Amino acid sequence: MKPYELLLKENKSWAARKLAEDPGFFDRLLHLQSPEFLWIGCSDSRVPANEITGTDPGEIFVHRNIANVVINTDVNLLSVLDYAVNHLKIKHVIVCGHYGCGGIKAAVAKTDYKPVLNMWLRNIKDVYRLHRTELDGIPNEEVLCDRLCELNVREGVMNLAKTSIIQRAWQNEQRPDLHGWVYGLKDGIIKPVFEMKSGTHIDPLYEYDNL
Ligand code: CO
Repeated sequence: MKPYELLLKENKSWAARKLAEDPGFFDRLLHLQSPEFLWIGCSDSRVPANEITGTDPGEIFVHRNIANVVINTDVNLLSVLDYAVNHLKIKHVIVCGHYGCGGIKAAVAKTDYKPVLNMWLRNIKDVYRLHRTELDGIPNEEVLCDRLCELNVREGVMNLAKTSIIQRAWQNEQRPDLHGWVYGLKDGIIKPVFEMKSGTHIDPLYEYDNL
């Protein structure tokens, strides 16, 4: 059996198992998805949102990219955010990075990864520059990268708060709360590192006054 065929075989067993545990499982999800959470995570195969949070299909709306970058020119991410906030009415947005992130390490390295990846990693280099004083003082590269993971998550959360999508929802519906987390590949534990409750004031430069 080819590796991809194994996936299809395992899928059949999974579906049968789910049905045995809960005969109404698929029927319920067929007619409604009402997740409370939007997850913005790294594409890394070792950080699956549902599995590490003990949640089922239907509970988390997910967007993933290399190094869980949140930038205001990413139409893909902003579409997911818009849909999650304005249609699914999610209550929490979680930006979850992970220690040992290859994207973060690549951004710190001086290697040329060719145009497309360079363009993406540039966003992380910009986070480094914003926190250069602190980061330049860390002699150990692994410790430095892990700290940059935390700061990247923090900047991601702050970038969400700068969008009119979030600001309008905060003003009209007092949701969602924004959370910055970092997952540990070594122990499987998620560490909360930053939080912005609905209605938090940010730099007035980024606040809209006619939402
Ligand atoms: Co990663």
